[in-house]
Amino acid sequence: MSYSSSATATGAQEGTVTKRGFWSSRLAFILAATGSAVGLGNIWKFPYITGENGGGAFVLVYLICIAAVGIPIMMAEVLIGRRGGHSPVNSLRLITQRDKLHPLWKWVGVIGVLAGFLILSFYSVIGGWALSYVGTSASGQFSGQTAEAVGSIFSGLLSDPMTLLTWHTLFMALVMVVVARGVSSGLERATSILMPGLFVLLLIMVGYAMTTGHFGEAVSFLFQPDFSKLTTSGVLVALGHAFFTLSLGMAVMMAYGSYLPKNVSIAKASVTVSVMDTGVALLAGLAIFPVVFANGLEPGAGPGLIFQTLPLAFGQMPMGGLFGTLFFVLLVFAAWTSGISLLEPLVEWLEEQKGMNRTISTLIAGFTCWVLGIASILSLNLWSDVTPLGMFAMFEGKTIFDLLDYLTANILLPLGGLLVAVLVGWFMSKQALQNELSLSEGGFRLWHNTLKFITPIAVLVVFFYNLA
Ligand code: TRP
Repeated sequence: MSYSSSATATGAQEGTVTKRGFWSSRLAFILAATGSAVGLGNIWKFPYITGENGGGAFVLVYLICIAAVGIPIMMAEVLIGRRGGHSPVNSLRLITQRDKLHPLWKWVGVIGVLAGFLILSFYSVIGGWALSYVGTSASGQFSGQTAEAVGSIFSGLLSDPMTLLTWHTLFMALVMVVVARGVSSGLERATSILMPGLFVLLLIMVGYAMTTGHFGEAVSFLFQPDFSKLTTSGVLVALGHAFFTLSLGMAVMMAYGSYLPKNVSIAKASVTVSVMDTGVALLAGLAIFPVVFANGLEPGAGPGLIFQTLPLAFGQMPMGGLFGTLFFVLLVFAAWTSGISLLEPLVEWLEEQKGMNRTISTLIAGFTCWVLGIASILSLNLWSDVTPLGMFAMFEGKTIFDLLDYLTANILLPLGGLLVAVLVGWFMSKQALQNELSLSEGGFRLWHNTLKFITPIAVLVVFFYNLA
């Protein structure tokens, strides 16, 4: 694949600023951004929150949130990244200088880098569960098992710190290897293989699901809205998940946007990525729910849905060892490309800010994140009683793992998204935005007004709901 490092986004002299490449094509950006967006959020979280929130009506609200909040913010983030042409923190610094805005805006990028780092620390632990399940499936341990046996495989894994540490270490190493190799030779090549593979594997799973005899039931569960099942908190869960699943609010799309060639349409690229992300979530739902219904499992089983109930189903179906293994391989791929995107902003920032080379930056960032991940591992077993902020009612009973999840998903993420919407919607020069987007008059106005009004209001609702 071609790699053009000669053109730097800012025109800075080589040698004084890290040399930067561009994505070799629009497709490469789309693959990488989709790789970031599609992850545990789509395949693990989306089905279980859909199950918990009653199906169809929740899915509908989630789709509206993607369109009305997610896509406008994604466009704004990619725009900031491309206009700034640097790591998120420095892009924001350059843009605010150029538009004579308050320098404090660069903290949007700092929040993003910090949030990505915190998320990766526990995301890697869950990625580790998926890795370990590849082996468990492949060795046939799920075949013909009872619910108790499958449940105890899961609780056995959670209670064993050394095993969790091994898988967490392996997952983090996979992420670091790709990030260390850099955006073109590493990320781009990895995603251009992983993403199509993921689609094919999911289609195979959906194909299997069609043979269970419960496909129709799953389709009506997912797509027939029953508004009596929708709660206020369900609406807010849907909105929050729109952020998480599209990798928004944490400057990831800014980091990737900084490599996007100037002639590529930001709107088209953002819509494409969002549609693919949503498509994967819906496909995952179509692959999972027929199996759930066919086995009389509980759709609202919660976060354990994949790890505790699916292996049971795989254990019963013909060729379940093969399908189970494929499924967890798929989950690892998805989590891997997302993990890469969580580390990338921090590594970029270390390179630029501290002048370190990419390998050293990756080692430092990845190692620190790995160490923090150990706290999450221990909070699943030895430290399961440790609740550091338990004296505040809001954090009562939350372990370190829970706290990291809560702090990132419910506080940092909406805050980052809100600030991006306000910065772009209210402060950046309209002319600059129009130049960057080159949309039609009507299209631009629709996007700008959505970002200015609808997005901040929606985000504030989620934010205060989560704090309250
Ligand atoms: N979107 C990913 C998922 O659905 C998770 C993720 C990766 C993410 N990078 C992110 C979430 C940045 C928020 C911000 O699993």
